[in-house]
Amino acid sequence: MRVSIREVGPRDGLQNEVPVPTAAKVELLDALSATGVPRIEAVSFVHPKAIPQMADAADVWAAASKSPNVRYSALVPNLKGAERALAAGFTELEVVVSASDVHNKANLNRSTAESLDDITALIDLVHGAGGSVEVIVATSFGCPYTGDVPPARVAGIVERVLADGADRLAFGDTTGMATPRRVTELLDVVPRERPVLLHFHDTRGTGLANILTALELGITEFDASVGGLGGCPYAPGATGNVATEEVVHMLHDMGLDTGIDLSRLIEAARLAERIVGRTLPSGVLRAGPRTRIVSA
Ligand code: COA
Ligand code: ZN
Repeated sequence: MRVSIREVGPRDGLQNEVPVPTAAKVELLDALSATGVPRIEAVSFVHPKAIPQMADAADVWAAASKSPNVRYSALVPNLKGAERALAAGFTELEVVVSASDVHNKANLNRSTAESLDDITALIDLVHGAGGSVEVIVATSFGCPYTGDVPPARVAGIVERVLADGADRLAFGDTTGMATPRRVTELLDVVPRERPVLLHFHDTRGTGLANILTALELGITEFDASVGGLGGCPYAPGATGNVATEEVVHMLHDMGLDTGIDLSRLIEAARLAERIVGRTLPSGVLRAGPRTRIVSA
């Protein structure tokens, strides 16, 4: 069976690290493109004051070597971001909206309802340009400001964006509040008539358990970030996505195919460490794969 990993280190990872030069971002993207990973979320087109780390998104993308074997995408927060992404040449877009109103306000300066209205127009715009839109529902497993988010609220948002023509769906565990129980509860109630991807942060060590649970429930698409890149250096306890090489290492040993060359991926994680200048949390990066033999 094939499991589709989308590498989000260049976007979700780097947006939460100390800013790095454009050339370093391009080098990381190119290294990731050579690992066999089928999809990469390359950049986001957000307000440069909100996320200065992504201010050079168009330059990064222009300089990157685009592999014909990789589907690249860009994350956008609104219609204006979609216009910028289309102008830069992207056709595969992710738009984010939070299930939690308070989180959506903090992240996008809008209520969830206002963002949903914007998404209606955004889907029309992107479809008109021949592109596709994935709607990422952030804080699907809980909100750091308000606590639990009822799965029924997430399901309501999904119904709305499906009616608007969303091509794909993703559920974001924005601050690592998901557990296998919460994954099961959400997947029990959300419509699954379109491709569904899950996005976990490993803040509380439940990332791989969540992925395993989702696999058992038929989900085969996951975000992950190389080295576990991400997490805000200024926010205590914030961590990145589940590390791509940890996910790939586990899946391959289960006999599941990802198309990814694990040793190249570990090399890319080493590069990511050099670029951000700190030790990244990935265990597989530290210890190597389980097949690594050490001298007695
Ligand atoms: N990229 C660049 N500029 C943008 C933009 C975008 N995606 N969206 C809006 N702007 C510009 C507008 O054109 C306007 O410019 P002007 O003053 O020159 O006319 C200005 O920003 C204000 O527009 P407004 O719609 O009022 O934006 P805002 O100040 O309410 O900010 C967001 C809203 C969504 C743009 C901002 O909160 C944001 O970028 N958030 C992203 C956060 C993020 O990336 N989180 C992590 C990923 S989930
Ligand atoms: Zn994230």
